Amino acid sequence: MVSLSNVSVAYDKYQILENINITIHQGEFVFIVGRTGAGKSSLLKLLYMDVLPASGTVTIGDYSSDTIRKREVSFLRRTIGIIFQDMKLLEDRNVFDNVAFTLHVTGVKRKKIKQRVLSALADVGLSHKRNSMPLELSGGEQQRLGIARALVNDPWLLIADEPTGNLDPSTSNDILDTLIKINNRGTAILMATHNYNLVKRTPASRILQIRDRQVVEVEMR
Ligand SMILES: Nc1ncnc2c1ncn2[C@@H]1O[C@H](COP(=O)(O)OP(=O)(O)O)[C@@H](O)[C@H]1O
Ligand SMILES: [Mg+2]
Repeated sequence: MVSLSNVSVAYDKYQILENINITIHQGEFVFIVGRTGAGKSSLLKLLYMDVLPASGTVTIGDYSSDTIRKREVSFLRRTIGIIFQDMKLLEDRNVFDNVAFTLHVTGVKRKKIKQRVLSALADVGLSHKRNSMPLELSGGEQQRLGIARALVNDPWLLIADEPTGNLDPSTSNDILDTLIKINNRGTAILMATHNYNLVKRTPASRILQIRDRQVVEVEMR
């Protein structure tokens, strides 16, 4: 599934992560915690190969950081879903078209697109808003739209980098519940957060903490 083997990350010789070993299995829910600047986003970027390790090997699905070619990175990213705190929504397209966009780009047939978009919107509880424009949505609904867009390729892994960072506690809980529902259907979820309440609300999860350039498995419940 996902494995990091003796992985180090450095920016301009400044080491962020040192000799990391992690394995994530099919269907797991894993939180990445740690203070701001600890390297949570960097760790996630390794997985969608936005950052390559200075040493060691990242394996994700069928791809390895040792052998992946530049043009294959976009194929890799189509097999996983990625969600950010600040989703870049297409403000001049409605909700449906925001989700459909990547499918048009990859040449999926019109009928199939409709089916998959409506199913992704139903998964996040946004079916009734499919004709709305992104700016007519609340913050929580915008984030749901981001999740629907990440789900439309039916990924085996969903990577979420502080997906609730801009949301109030109750909306954050709703987003977490949506992610738990998706996880219960078998999609692995890797979520960076500094919100310990969310971690506590997800008993069936593993917690990886980044501290002093190391990743350690912790219990905080
Ligand atoms: N592209 C980059 N170039 C140089 N330094 C970076 C870059 N990206 C992140 N950093 C630094 O690496 C450290 C870890 O950053 P990051 O992975 O974003 O941490 P977190 O997500 O836990 O807040 C920080 O000190 C940050 O300033
Ligand atoms: Mg970050």
